[in-house]
Amino acid sequence: MVTISDAKSASSRENRTAAHTHIKGLGLRPDGTAEKVLNGFVGQERAREACGVVVDLIKAKKMSGRAVMLAGGPGTGKTALALAISQELGTKVPFRPIVGSEIYSAEVKKTEALMENFRRSIGLRVKETKEVYEGEVTDLTPEEAENPLGGYGRTISHVIVGLKSGKGTKKLRLDPSIYESIQKERVAVGDVIYIEANTGAVKRVGRSDAYATEFDLEAEEYVPIPKGEVHKKKEIVQDVTLHDLDVANARPQGGQDIISMMGQLTKPKKTEITDKLRAEINKVVEKYIDQGVAELVPGVLFIDEVHMLDIECFTYLNRALESKISPIVILASNRGVCTIRGTDGITSAHGVPTDLLGRLLIIPTYPYDAEDIKTIVRIRTKTEGLELAEAAIDAIASIGVQSSLRYALQLMTPASVVARSVGRTKIEVSDVRECQELFIDASTSSRLVEKGPGAGGYIS
Ligand SMILES: Nc1ncnc2c1ncn2[C@@H]1O[C@H](COP(=O)(O)OP(=O)(O)OP(=O)(O)O)[C@@H](O)[C@H]1O
Ligand SMILES: [Mg+2]
Repeated sequence: MVTISDAKSASSRENRTAAHTHIKGLGLRPDGTAEKVLNGFVGQERAREACGVVVDLIKAKKMSGRAVMLAGGPGTGKTALALAISQELGTKVPFRPIVGSEIYSAEVKKTEALMENFRRSIGLRVKETKEVYEGEVTDLTPEEAENPLGGYGRTISHVIVGLKSGKGTKKLRLDPSIYESIQKERVAVGDVIYIEANTGAVKRVGRSDAYATEFDLEAEEYVPIPKGEVHKKKEIVQDVTLHDLDVANARPQGGQDIISMMGQLTKPKKTEITDKLRAEINKVVEKYIDQGVAELVPGVLFIDEVHMLDIECFTYLNRALESKISPIVILASNRGVCTIRGTDGITSAHGVPTDLLGRLLIIPTYPYDAEDIKTIVRIRTKTEGLELAEAAIDAIASIGVQSSLRYALQLMTPASVVARSVGRTKIEVSDVRECQELFIDASTSSRLVEKGPGAGGYIS
C-alpha cells in the first residue's frame, strides 16, 4: 500500500528566521524591573520597564482609549518592544500590528481601513452554556451512498463519530455537512473535540494526552479526556474580535458559532460592512455585556511608522480614541521633526499633530553600545544557526555602533554565505568586511546620492 504523507508546509518554518524570532518577551523580573539579558532582549532597560507597566495597565483594563508612542532612532528596538508586549499579553488579548502606509489602498478608504483595524483589536469574550457532545474521537467513518443524482460519483450520506469521555462512550451518526466542518478543523482519531448539538459546529480542543508519547514536531496542545458524560451542557468561552462579528454578519453563511450568537442580526443578507451594521453590532455587544454574557477585552492596535499617516487619519485616530469602545493604541516612529502628511508643510515632532502628541505617553529608545550589540549578535548567531569568530563579532559590533544595529545584524547572513563560498563554516572578519563593501548602509547610500556621478556618487 502506498502511504501519501501530508506535504509538510510547516517544517520549512524553522528555517525562515525572521528579524525578531529571538524576542520572547520583555524579560522583566516579577517586580517589573528589567534583567539585563532575558527573553532575547538585551539592554534598553528603561523602555522595557515602561512597556511592562503598559502591559500591566492593559491587563487591568485601565488603558483603553489611551495611546503610547515608542520614539527613537532606527534599529533601537521599537518594533521588537511592541512584539514583546504582544507576547506578554498572551493570545487571548487581540494584538493587531500594522504599518502606517498599509492603510493606503485603491479599494478601501483610508479611514475605513483604520476603522477595520480598530475593530480587529477589540476583543469580546463570550460565555455561553451549550448542549454539546464532547470526547476523544475513537472512530471517524464516513458512510457512502450512491449519488442520488445518478452517475458514477458516490456521496457521503452520513458520518459515524465515536466519542469517548471519562464516563462513557457514544456513537453519533451525523449529517454530511458536519463532516465538512470536521475536515475543516482537521479532526483525526485521537483528538478531543466537541460538537454543538444545536448548530452542529465542530471544535477541535486538542490532541488527547493518551497520545502524548507519540513524538511530534509540531507544537501540539495535549488535553485530558473530558470528564463527565459525552452528551452534556458545557460552558463555552469564545474569544472573537468586533471585526469577526462584523464579517460574520456581513456574510451570514460564513463561520458557524459566532452566527448562532448573533442570530438575530443575520436576517437581512448583507454583503458589505457598513457603519449601520457596525452600530447594530455595537448595540448587541453592549446588550450582551449588560447581561453579563460577554466581556469586552480591549486589545492593542500597533501602528508602526506612524509618520506615514496623514492629517485625516490623525483626526480619525483622535476621535476613535475618545469612543466608548476603544483599544490601546501603540505608535512607533523613528522620525524627528518632520512634515505632517496631508498638510502644506506644517511640521511637528514625529510628524504627529500636536493635539494627538499631547495625549500620548512617550517611551524613548536609545542607541546601543558595543557591548549590548555584541550580546544581541551572539543571540542572533544562535537563532540563525551561524558560527562567528570572536573578532568578527567585534567587527560587527563596531559597525553597529557606527551605523545601526539593524545594518549590523543584516550583514550576518550574507557574511555566512561568503564564508561558505570559500569552504568555511565559521565567519571571519574578512567575510564581514567583504559584505560591508558589497552592501552599504542607508546613510552611506544617501551620501552617494547627494554627491552625484562626477563626484564619485552613483546617481546622475
Ligand atoms: N534590545 C534588543 N535586544 C535584542 N534584540 C534587539 C534589541 N533591539 C533591537 N533588536 C533587534 O534588532 C533589530 C532591529 O530592531 P527593531 O526592528 O526593533 O528596531 P526599530 O526601532 O523598530 O527600527 P526602525 O525605526 O528602523 O523601525 C531587530 O532584529 C530586533 O529584533
Ligand atoms: Mg521598526
